[in-house]
Amino acid sequence: MRLKVTILGAGQVGASTAQRLMEHDYADVVMVDIIPGMPQGKALDIQEAAPIVGYSGRIVGTNGYEETAGSDVVVITSGIPRKPGMSRDDLVLTNQKIVTQVTEQIVARSPNAILIVLTNPVDAMTQVVYRVSGFPKRRVVGQAGILDTARFRTFVALEAGVSPRDVQAYVLGGHGDQMVPLARYCTIGGVPITEILPRERIDAIVERTRKGGEEIVKLLQTGSAFYAPSAALVEMIDAIALDQKRVLPCVAYLEGEYGLTGLFVGVPVRLGASGIEQVVEIPLTDDERAALHRSADTVRALVQVMQLSG
Ligand code: 2OP
Repeated sequence: MRLKVTILGAGQVGASTAQRLMEHDYADVVMVDIIPGMPQGKALDIQEAAPIVGYSGRIVGTNGYEETAGSDVVVITSGIPRKPGMSRDDLVLTNQKIVTQVTEQIVARSPNAILIVLTNPVDAMTQVVYRVSGFPKRRVVGQAGILDTARFRTFVALEAGVSPRDVQAYVLGGHGDQMVPLARYCTIGGVPITEILPRERIDAIVERTRKGGEEIVKLLQTGSAFYAPSAALVEMIDAIALDQKRVLPCVAYLEGEYGLTGLFVGVPVRLGASGIEQVVEIPLTDDERAALHRSADTVRALVQVMQLSG
């Protein structure tokens, strides 16, 4: 049996995710968007690449939700992206409405799905999906840490002149300027970068990582990043679909882990067939823990804004 994956939003990130997923060839895909013809056209285009690339799955595009019924995994990318000068947080009330509506539609038809959230501000939107869906916490997860960590790994690899595959790292916390790239846990071939790169170069890489999304928004002018975000989403879908039990930084609901409670925030988790199987607690110094809590405070403030708006 092939897995059924629904992708909500057929914009740049949704369509790139669909394309990458089809090329992994274990899932059938449904792509949903409100723009008439757009998801249908993109889905047909991806389907027609199958004989050339060599995959066997089916992909359909639709403006409704009937085709999504019985999905195993649902990816939520619906919402507006930020424009130059906007922070992710500026999107909160608009995207809260959109994410609430699509979540209601999805859970009515796919009550057993695992929901992966990408819409920004992602930590707060994952909390919206959790609350609206009523799903257990293990089946609601957000994507941010894999992308932020990939940016950190990329910049370290470029600086050191090594393959990004050999750079391991963690970026924890909320997906905003207060995110917490952990230089102490960043290694090249197992050796901490603190023993390889000068302090000022590491500081510059940490700062560039924090502003990584904004750097792309400024360059594109008309949208935000999608190649790396879609790659991050597919890494998570692979982990779930293939029960890989990957340890990946994801937006997860915390109930006491890292001293945080009642909040979605980026931490390492073990991701497998049942969703988040464990929040992995890595040892943090007092400074790292304080930075994680400061980042979590910014997420908590956003969650409070949403509750005030009803
Ligand atoms: C980013 O960091 C879109 O939030 C996403 O690029």
